[in-house]
Amino acid sequence: MPAPMPMLRPVSNDVPTTTERHQVLIDETGESFGCASTESALHALARSGRKGIPVGCRGGGCGVCKVQVLAGSYSKRAMSRCHVSEAEEACQQVLACCIYPHSDLKLRVLGKMQKALFRKP
Ligand code: FES
Repeated sequence: MPAPMPMLRPVSNDVPTTTERHQVLIDETGESFGCASTESALHALARSGRKGIPVGCRGGGCGVCKVQVLAGSYSKRAMSRCHVSEAEEACQQVLACCIYPHSDLKLRVLGKMQKALFRKP
């Protein structure tokens, strides 16, 4: 029997001001990356040098970095409703450039990020 999933908790709309280190895990690949609480999950993924991480506007406007948070808590900045509907956000679908970890995060990549990450050579 699998372990129960930790509670999902978007903490607030504020970016943290104190720095803690957390891990960001990509569920599909099992890869994990260190991420400071003051940097976005996308920044940590891009900094890792992992091939196939799409980086666009870094401001929540282009939608290339869409993910679903499966576990962990985080704060978030405003995101374009063109790319994340209220219903999707309620299901923890967010833009990785707009979320800041408050704990270790487990992510499922979606949309363009999924295509880019699993593109065949
Ligand atoms: S990089 Fe453009 S929305 Fe995240």
